Amino acid sequence: MKNRGVQAAWKYHQGTKHSYWSIRTNPHVLDWANRPLPFKIYPTVEPIPLPRDVPQTGVAALAAISARVPLTEGDSLPNLRDLARILFFSAGITKQRKFPGGEIYFRAAACTGALYEIELYVVTGKLEGLDAGVYHFNPADVSLRPLRAGDFRGNLAQAAAMEPSVARAPATIVCTGTYWRNAWKYGARTYRHFGWDNGTLLANMLAVAAASGLPAEIVLGFVDAEVNQLLDLDTRREVSLCLVPVGRKSEGSPPAPQKAASLGLETVPLSEREVEYPAMLEMHEASSLQSVEEVEQWRERGKQTVLPASVQAGEEVRLQPLSKEEQRTDTVEQVILRRGSTRTFDKTASIALAELSTILDCATRGVPADFLAPGAQLNDIYLIAHSVEGLAPGAYFFHRERNTLELLKHGKFRAEAYRLGLEQQLPADACVDVFFLADLNQILEGYGNRGYRGVQLEAGAIGGQMYLAAYTQHLGASGLTFFDDEVTQFFSPHANDKSAIFLLAIGKPLKRNIQ
Ligand SMILES: Cc1cc2nc3c(=O)[nH]c(=O)nc-3n(C[C@H](O)[C@H](O)[C@H](O)COP(=O)(O)O)c2cc1C
Repeated sequence: MKNRGVQAAWKYHQGTKHSYWSIRTNPHVLDWANRPLPFKIYPTVEPIPLPRDVPQTGVAALAAISARVPLTEGDSLPNLRDLARILFFSAGITKQRKFPGGEIYFRAAACTGALYEIELYVVTGKLEGLDAGVYHFNPADVSLRPLRAGDFRGNLAQAAAMEPSVARAPATIVCTGTYWRNAWKYGARTYRHFGWDNGTLLANMLAVAAASGLPAEIVLGFVDAEVNQLLDLDTRREVSLCLVPVGRKSEGSPPAPQKAASLGLETVPLSEREVEYPAMLEMHEASSLQSVEEVEQWRERGKQTVLPASVQAGEEVRLQPLSKEEQRTDTVEQVILRRGSTRTFDKTASIALAELSTILDCATRGVPADFLAPGAQLNDIYLIAHSVEGLAPGAYFFHRERNTLELLKHGKFRAEAYRLGLEQQLPADACVDVFFLADLNQILEGYGNRGYRGVQLEAGAIGGQMYLAAYTQHLGASGLTFFDDEVTQFFSPHANDKSAIFLLAIGKPLKRNIQ
């Protein structure tokens, strides 16, 4: 079982750390002429246009982020319109901007470098408006392209070791990552970006599914080779990252798995030349699950991994989330459409403790996933507060179970935030920077190398929920990258032995790029 050889994840993690020196000794020059296509295009497959006049749910974004749809007795069946809504608000094009070298098609969820390396596929039984099949979603023309006709849900159910959410799902969305599309800019660090960028997209997907009244969750336990074969992926270029079953049938079992022969469908090359980064292929291989038995054991063992709660030692501030009556009621669709990473924060502005509390409260209730016990979370949250009314400037640790912030050190740390966030102005000018750190030793011990996928994905999903919670309150936010070890040092001794996983800056935009 390669997954248990966790030196592979450590090797990848250590080898892709950013530091003051790594940035200066490995400057990366972008080859604009070889910039990858932002879409996967099957030129020989006829598209099935998705409806564009889908009614919006009108559900408040904060409720959609934090609520799970309870499983009811009856069936929860998505129709084609539900599917179109979920796909569009997860990965659809929401803005278009010209730049000197061409045009950028911005999408519903934040993505490193706006390179959009996450692709979506749908494996479905017959739905109202759509035949059973395996489809690829193309956001460029808002369409599905049929790759296989027939009901292949049994293949996914088998690959996921009959995980009930997949086995009972009328449709499952499969998220994949395309290495080169992101590695063009970020090299071998792209494997981390797979988790982050898939995660922000999942935050939208789970929120819109919940707003549509459909249960959905993240499934990370599956036999990789079986899912990749079903989608007919060229796995040196593109790999399956997670499954999201949507809806639920109360009775019946999925059809028996069918043979999924190679399709040999042509796709348009992303670039003239592609560069392969072996470190990522090795990391993926080492975190792949090889049999149904391995998937079953992995899921069970993972769920039993209990990360010890941090002992509180310092002064605490109680969070004050807004009550339901006080919360803004902007709908999930409105918020996704206006979201866009803040490019300049107003460093003279402040946010209220109630706004920060609402973001933390809504986004940290536990991501619904097969590998997490309900409410469990792999990432720990640390903050640098610069200008939060009701919170002294300083570094804090978020005690999720007590809903408090523990003061680690008082002080004005804008200069430190600039440095930690890869010497960028955004974290220095924000009102608060939210750092995600994790105890990789414990996580890899419990989950093997696949825990590395899990912790990055969870961070992206929580970060994506924070984006939505911030934009609901008409604030701005931006994901950021960081100098790994300096982040740990800054929050130590509290963060001793933890690794930096993700960073999100929250504040007020200087140029009002949100309405
Ligand atoms: C995980 C993550 C890390 C990011 N890191 C940076 C960063 O270091 N610097 C930056 O200016 N923007 C960063 N961004 C913002 C992206 O550039 C932005 O999401 C992308 O251009 C798409 O634009 P949009 O978010 O406005 O839709 C990051 C976004 C994510 C999701």
